[in-house]
Amino acid sequence: MEEQELAAGLVDRLRAAFEAAAYTVEGVAARLDGSANNALARNETTLAFQRTAAGDSLDTMIRLFLLQRAVPRDLVEKAFPGDTTELIALGILREAGRHQLAAALDVRPYAEDDRQWWVIADLTPGLDGRREPMRPDYVLGIAPASLSLVRLTVPIKAGKALDIGTGCGIQALHLADRVGQIVATDVNPRALRLTRWTAALNRVELEVRAGSLYEPVAGEQFDLIVSNPPYVIAPPAADARLTYRETGFAGDAVVEQLVRQAPRHLTEGGWCQLLANWTCVRGQDWRERIAGWTGDRSGWAVQREQLDPAEYVELWLRDAGLQGRPEYTSRYDAWLRWLDEQQVEAIGMGWINLHNVAGSMDAEEWPYEIEQPIGPHVLDRFERVEGLPAELTGLHLTMAEDVVQETAGQPGAEDPATIVLRRQRGMRRAEQVDTVLAGFVGACDGELSVGQILDALASLLERDDLHADYLPKIAGLITEGFLHY
Ligand SMILES: C[S@@+](CC[C@H](N)C(=O)[O-])C[C@H]1O[C@@H](n2cnc3c(N)ncnc32)[C@H](O)[C@@H]1O
Repeated sequence: MEEQELAAGLVDRLRAAFEAAAYTVEGVAARLDGSANNALARNETTLAFQRTAAGDSLDTMIRLFLLQRAVPRDLVEKAFPGDTTELIALGILREAGRHQLAAALDVRPYAEDDRQWWVIADLTPGLDGRREPMRPDYVLGIAPASLSLVRLTVPIKAGKALDIGTGCGIQALHLADRVGQIVATDVNPRALRLTRWTAALNRVELEVRAGSLYEPVAGEQFDLIVSNPPYVIAPPAADARLTYRETGFAGDAVVEQLVRQAPRHLTEGGWCQLLANWTCVRGQDWRERIAGWTGDRSGWAVQREQLDPAEYVELWLRDAGLQGRPEYTSRYDAWLRWLDEQQVEAIGMGWINLHNVAGSMDAEEWPYEIEQPIGPHVLDRFERVEGLPAELTGLHLTMAEDVVQETAGQPGAEDPATIVLRRQRGMRRAEQVDTVLAGFVGACDGELSVGQILDALASLLERDDLHADYLPKIAGLITEGFLHY
């Protein structure tokens, strides 16, 4: 079973069938309309079932793969002429009672910009409130976290890229049109098979390899490494753990290993980008722990959310479909106790970006809304941090076009109590500044140098030299993109 492939002829026929039926993101959206689509996004299939009653091939494909409903065999034969037996043999379809077939795998259209793909994964769990614990080797489809990594990935052209823990191959698909050679790895043989199938169906060249973390690429280097790894921090499982989210490594060691070993597998100037969960251990600053993993490399870790242990355990028990099951409270109790024994007071969730050049790690919390895709802004920020001149006074700065000033204070007061400069783009940074810094930024039109503006402000305000106080703050505004040089 493990070695089964999608034959080229079948790929051609499936693609032709999907295209003829308009089984595309647009086609499905048009058939289901807004409310049925929204309901489906909430895992409710009833409305979409009502919208797909005509019995044409698009209805059949939607009912099979997106609604997980059984469909009369003759309609399936009409949608995939001559191929149902092979689709059953491959485990994509299955018999579902008398003269009925159902999907055994999820095959769904997916698109970005003008690119249209079909992605093969395990069936989405939890439709219509069903509670279904997942099989340990469950292969995750396109999840919100998958898309978050897609949007984080720096938009570079690369000779060679590595996708660790490829799952259904979604990251690799996105890299295909700008990377010469892609290696996709996983420990789950089912994931590797479905990735090969997804790649074949989309005519994307991928090298798929089995093994844990960097094992399958020993001695190799890449320009770009991406991973949405199995980062869930869970106690050693009594029963089989869910491979798509847990490794059995202690605490956040899977993330630590990925980061620590990345420089060895990156070309000079290469990038490694990960989604991650990390432990916030009592008495330790999480930023320092993560900075310890990246050594002298240039890095940027952003904690997008922090959960306390109870919230964390609830989140992942829910994700595993265990709510309402008899073992729910005992699992909850054991998980919480285990986190407490490990001195975990909270769990951080976010991203780690590593650029393989000399530098240091910036680690910070930024839970606010950001522009998407954020990848181009990640690239810009690294450029600004790594290129920041040691001597700023001679620079002629200009203010970024997206900066706005917000002031707040008592009505009628002469001066505002607070001034905030806010960027509209990228991380949508907000910096509270004083009147001197606000005046400085306002004067940055490229005409005068930093030193000249600071000196002019000092004499206007009858202050001593402003350089020592303000140059570090100006450096911060440059790295966060408020000011350009
Ligand atoms: C959260 S899923 C991510 C899937 C996909 N890349 C995405 O972005 O949606 C994590 C994947 O890592 C795989 N995995 C688990 N343990 C691993 C290990 N030790 N080394 C490499 N991959 C592993 C799982 O089988 C799973 O496919």
